[in-house]
Amino acid sequence: MAKRKHRSEAEQRFARIAQTVAHSAASVEEAEEHPRSGHHDAPLTDEEISSSGALSTLAFSSNSQELTKMKKFRFQLLHRWIVDRVQPCRVADVGGGKGLLAYLLQESGWSATVIDPVAQGLPSKYKDLESGRQVRVRETERVARLNREFEPGMVGDFDLLVALHAHGCNIQMIDTAAELGREVILLPCCVIHEPVLPPPGVHWIQWLAEYVIGKGFAVEPFRLNFKGQNIGLYAYKPG
Ligand SMILES: C[S@@+](CC[C@H](N)C(=O)[O-])C[C@H]1O[C@@H](n2cnc3c(N)ncnc32)[C@H](O)[C@@H]1O
Repeated sequence: MAKRKHRSEAEQRFARIAQTVAHSAASVEEAEEHPRSGHHDAPLTDEEISSSGALSTLAFSSNSQELTKMKKFRFQLLHRWIVDRVQPCRVADVGGGKGLLAYLLQESGWSATVIDPVAQGLPSKYKDLESGRQVRVRETERVARLNREFEPGMVGDFDLLVALHAHGCNIQMIDTAAELGREVILLPCCVIHEPVLPPPGVHWIQWLAEYVIGKGFAVEPFRLNFKGQNIGLYAYKPG
């Protein structure tokens, strides 16, 4: 009986992952067919930024020469932004993949947990951007992980929910954080498995920024120094 239940859960998880992959491929095709449909991760244009009240404070242009780092350094850059901007707290790295962001926060003394349905180990090394050196992650190193999809019931243990290019959970995270008085940091990429879609012509990030404000948050948009979808939204309760 238990084995059958286990098998059925594994089958369901496999089906969900297969669906995610198929959906990603469909999003790419759709983006190619409808370049401004909002269902893709094309960078926001300067016009979109300046026409959006929620994003108009972004520090520098998307064409800036200052964007020198590669996308693979996004974990180190977001880690630096978070520790510089937010007081240490209990953070959930939702859709955290291998868990490098959570690991770096943990190394900085934060309590960090990865929430991601796909079980994965930490990377074996990463580049420290300040020293330029490769840092090894020992095989014995761990971060706390919940190998499950994000659910509102998980939020009780966390003060801050972070989603770096996470799929399937951005809207749920905003709704839950608004309800339970938590903060959220989102670096959204393409729209995958979300319950809503932005209307045609409205970029997903622009739409999410307005959605966050509609939930009673103040939003601080920011841009990290890497090429790719590098715009983040820090949502917190004002005052
Ligand atoms: C594009 S990857 C990003 C991973 C990592 N944050 C990064 O930047 O490389 C999207 C992640 O979202 C996870 N994911 C998909 N659906 C999810 C859900 N409902 N709850 C939490 N994570 C989810 C996937 O397993 C995957 O690891």
